[in-house]
Amino acid sequence: MKNILVTGGLGYIGSHTVVALQQAGFNVFIIDDLSNTIINVWEKITEITNIQPIFYNIDLKDYNAVSVFFQSHKIDGVIHFAAYKAVGESVTKPLMYYRNNLVGLINVLQAMEEHDANNFIFSSSCTVYGQADEMPIHENTPLKKPESPYGNTKKMGEEIIEDFVNATNKNAIALRYFNPVGSNINGTLGDLQPIPTNLVPYILQIAIGNKSKLNVFGNDYNTKDGTAIRDYIDVNDLADAHVKAIQRLLLNQNKTKIEYFNLGSGTGSTVLEIVQAFENANHIKIPFEIKPRRAGDIEQAYADYSLAQKELNWCPKTPLQKSMQTAWNFQKQLTEI
Ligand code: UFG
Repeated sequence: MKNILVTGGLGYIGSHTVVALQQAGFNVFIIDDLSNTIINVWEKITEITNIQPIFYNIDLKDYNAVSVFFQSHKIDGVIHFAAYKAVGESVTKPLMYYRNNLVGLINVLQAMEEHDANNFIFSSSCTVYGQADEMPIHENTPLKKPESPYGNTKKMGEEIIEDFVNATNKNAIALRYFNPVGSNINGTLGDLQPIPTNLVPYILQIAIGNKSKLNVFGNDYNTKDGTAIRDYIDVNDLADAHVKAIQRLLLNQNKTKIEYFNLGSGTGSTVLEIVQAFENANHIKIPFEIKPRRAGDIEQAYADYSLAQKELNWCPKTPLQKSMQTAWNFQKQLTEI
């Protein structure tokens, strides 16, 4: 049984990936500092799989703690999610983002080198492309300066990893997600944003009655209904891609020391289409009001995922309607957590 460390394994994408890894037969270790999640997620994972992953509450900025962890366990692969992810907050607190996201990453890589752990999967983002000149976005679409310090930590993270693997016997895959949505089927795991800023978490606040209406940021984009286009990809499909990516590295099937894959649904949806999809899936009306564009937003981004399909044998399987249902399931049971 291979030992996989999942940093940020109690977070949104991390927790779904831990479940998928356990179901695929991996022995999973979680490191999380609970900065953006709650300890109950550990139990929720265990309830789904009937296997309790080993959990350490470690701040990755503490190199000694990270090193002691690697000394105590023979780790075959690392999937690194742990990072701050609020785009707006990163603009006001850039150093906090650079310190947390980059020092955490560097410490994990250094401990891998010190303790001979080899395979690394990085949680990256389509934000590294900025507003791409052409759609859909391929992996060789030129990268642009990201709009936020958060985005820059992802771009710099990729560069640090590339330099690291080129200098060592390590291998890595960077997975560039588009917009993750949805929850596991029963809605017991999900996106626990303390102050929701992303579109679907905000829609859930309206559906549950905490907010009265959605602010739609801009209807003067050059799109079919004037609202911005994103590629919404189900979190369970993302989790599946991480399992395939770590298997690829463990089987030495990677073609270069670092590989990059886009993970999206391949379909662009406008903000109003997402509102409509949520309403249709759950029969709940979402009132909205058109507001000015949000600073830093791009007009559109959607993926060409054919490289992941070819190399990882991965493709998105979950229809948007289903993601909207599971997202709502998660919101409904949240009070029980
Ligand atoms: N939107 C609204 N109203 C809201 C929230 C969002 O109209 O209340 C719109 C946004 O303006 C945007 C779209 O919905 O057009 C999606 O916005 P999100 O905040 O959900 O997602 P972003 O595309 O801005 O950001 C996401 C992730 C980031 C990642 C980025 C990469 O949250 O982590 O994609 O493009 F970096």
